[in-house]
Order: sequence, then structure tokens, then C-alpha cells
Amino acid sequence: MTRPLSVALAGLGTVGAGVLRLLRENAEVVTARAGRPIAVTAVSARDRTRDRGTSLAGLRWYDDPVALAAGKPVVTANTALIAVHGAELAAAAERAGVALGFEAAVAGGIPVIKALREGLAGNRITRVAGILNGTCNYILTVMRERGREFAEVLAEAQKLGYAEADPSFDIDGIDAAHKLAILAALAFGRPVAFDAVHVEGIRRISALDIAFAGELGYRIKLLGLARRSAAGIEARVHPCMVPQGAPIARVDGVFNAVVAEGDFVGRIMLEGRGAGAGPTASAVVADLIDIARGRVTPVWGAASGALSQVPSVPMEAHVGPYYLRLMVVDRPGVIADVTAVLRDQGISLESMLQRGRSPGEAVPVVLVTHETRESAMRAALARIAALDAVLEDPTVIRIEPA
Ligand SMILES: NC(=O)c1ccc[n+]([C@@H]2O[C@H](COP(=O)([O-])OP(=O)(O)OC[C@H]3O[C@@H](n4cnc5c(N)ncnc54)[C@H](OP(=O)(O)O)[C@@H]3O)[C@@H](O)[C@H]2O)c1
Repeated sequence: MTRPLSVALAGLGTVGAGVLRLLRENAEVVTARAGRPIAVTAVSARDRTRDRGTSLAGLRWYDDPVALAAGKPVVTANTALIAVHGAELAAAAERAGVALGFEAAVAGGIPVIKALREGLAGNRITRVAGILNGTCNYILTVMRERGREFAEVLAEAQKLGYAEADPSFDIDGIDAAHKLAILAALAFGRPVAFDAVHVEGIRRISALDIAFAGELGYRIKLLGLARRSAAGIEARVHPCMVPQGAPIARVDGVFNAVVAEGDFVGRIMLEGRGAGAGPTASAVVADLIDIARGRVTPVWGAASGALSQVPSVPMEAHVGPYYLRLMVVDRPGVIADVTAVLRDQGISLESMLQRGRSPGEAVPVVLVTHETRESAMRAALARIAALDAVLEDPTVIRIEPA
């Protein structure tokens, strides 16, 4: 039999221990597909005494995982590492002629890196969009299903282990933005550019907005979206209203999904588990099998020198319909003041909802606009927020066609 591929595991937490288990339990299929056995021979973690749920007998232990990686092909599940340092790492891998695999870094078990980089390699990709953070999708799903507020659902998700003790990385959209930066680089063949991603999280989404979304025929999802137009590449992460009938609107709970549109393939959608030991191990082992087979694909799909330098389009230039919810004092003339501001900014309304009447008290008013430029919306919001009758900062949610 051919010489086994020896693997050193840096980290034995959820991902590392999952990889160890998969390689042991599925040794036969992995060997067949890799053309040779894949054997973990060395490991590294901080605590030598912790129970890893699987035997470490016979494995060499290193205290410093960095020593393991020197000059070797590397597979990582670390999203932030690839999103922020992916260009330098790719250049280093290219110089050394070794693979750098990161299938597990985006959407966990969904093989989206391979799909974009290899499966769709013949297409010009025009758009890639996805539910890229399971914690946010879980929170938004529970808020909708049970009519509950963000803070309560977040606290419950923390107890269940679906959200971290410090949840800001997930709920403020940063993790999704890291993943989107990676997807955009692969989809559009340009260097990874995390700083060019516009990022908003889900903290300000309320049960009221979720209920209004339902009434208008939408669901609220935190999406990562990257689009290529004549002006360049737009990349943004923010809560979106998507039509209830759109396949992505039905991806609930901790699940992730990615939609890609290519000029020859049309639209594809992949859905699955975005985290957890099993899905992440599945992705890591796929990369290991490529290495065992000697398949080395350029990290970003093309050699660093062959990537294009397409400009980024700033968020102010985004154009689309908007949902706007205001809490206003119920008194004559308020709506006229608000619509006058919108008129001055050239923003036209598609519909308006106002529920109940309680003269002199706060009532929600919902406005849905036609296609509007972000810069015009921002200017209008500043003036609307300053009106006496408007009691709190307006809530704005962009509407995304299916
Ligand atoms: N969990 C997921 O579902 C998932 C999904 C996709 C991507 N990822 C990414 O995959 C990576 C690993 O995630 P995880 O969930 O497996 O994390 P984890 O459960 O916290 O495990 C981290 C492991 O790294 C070890 N470690 C940390 N610092 C070390 C050091 N200085 N030297 C040696 N070992 C060290 C820890 O050792 P001890 O065990 O001894 O503390 C632990 O075994 C992260 O970048 C994460 O963002 C995770």
C-alpha cells in the first residue's frame, strides 16, 4: 500500500477531536478516496489531561503547534485567519508549492469553497449570498416562531451553547462578514478584502419588525451578499427582508445556506449545517483527501498574480427597496412631515402600514420604499429622527429580492 499521509492536529477541541473521530470511524472510505490511509500521528492542545472523547494513545504530543506547520500543507477551519490574512497565506503556500485548505472555514459542512472554486470554475459569478452564521439564524428563527424579543432569545441560546458568552462576534455580523469576504474573493477572483465588507448585526431587530415582516410577506434573515456590477463589487452583511417564498427564507435554526449565480449555470443553492464537530470534520477531511491525492488548487482559484483588481462599491451607492419602521406620536400631521422628508430626498413609497389608534401615544408606522439609493435613505433618516413626533431611532431593514 502507498505510504500513509501523516497528519498533525493543532487543536483538539470541537473541530480537532471531530477530525480524529472521523478519520478513525471512516478509515475505510477515506483510504479508498484518498488512495492511501490518512493517519493522525501528532497532536497539540493546551491541556494534556483533558478527556478528548477518543484515545490519544500512540500520538506524539507537541506543546507548540506552530512547529507542526513549518513548510507543510495546512488545513484550517479558522475563518478569521483566512479572511484577514488569506492573501499573505496564499502567497506563502504558492511559494512553497503546498496546499492551504479551508473548506471548513465557511459554512461548516457545506462544501461551498469547492463549489465556487472548482465546481463553478467555468462561470462568471454575478452574485453570491448566504446565511453564514448559525447563531444569528437560530436567534431570528426562535424570535419569529415564538414572538419573542432578541435579548431573551440570545440569553437562552447562550444557555444552550448556540451562542458564545461574548456573542458580539456572531450577533454583530463580524463572523458572517469574514465568511462573505472569503466567498466574494473566490466568486469574483479578486484578493480577499474583509475591510471592504459593510457590516451590520441583528441586535436592533425586534419582535415587532419580525411580525411586520410576516404581514408584508417577508422573513428577516442576516444575509451576506456580494454582487458584481459594472461599477465593481458590492459586499455587505446586514439583516434583510427576503420574500417568504424564497428558498433561503426557509432555511431556519442553526442551518446555513449559500446561493450562487453564474452566467452559464444559473442559480444554485447549497444548504446544511454550518458548525459542529461532524460537519466541520467532514470539510476538513475533504481537504486532507485532496492533499493525500496530491491535488493542489490555487488557494483563491487562480494564482495570486492572476487575480483581478476590481474596485469595491461603497455602501452609500447601494440601491434597493427599504423597510422603515418609526415609533411616532399619534397626532395629525406626523405622517405628512415624514413623507415630506422622503419626497425631498426623491424617495418614493410603495406602501404604508399603521396599526391601531391611540391619540397622543406612541404608535408604529411602517413605510416600504421603491428602489432607493442608500445615501438618500441615510440623509432622510437623519432628518426623520430629528422630528419631534419621532420617538426613537428609526429601524431600517433592506429588502432583498429572492
Ligand atoms: N466549532 C465549530 O463548529 C467550528 C466551525 C467552523 C470553524 N471553526 C473554527 O475552527 C477553529 C477551532 O474551533 P473549535 O470549535 O474546535 O475550538 P475549541 O473547541 O475551542 O478548540 C480549540 C483547541 O485549540 C487548542 N489550543 C488553543 N490555544 C492553543 C495553543 N496556544 N497551543 C496549543 N493548542 C491550543 C485548545 O486546547 P485545549 O483543549 O487544551 O484548551 C483546543 O483543543 C476556530 O478557529 C473556529 O473558529 C469552528
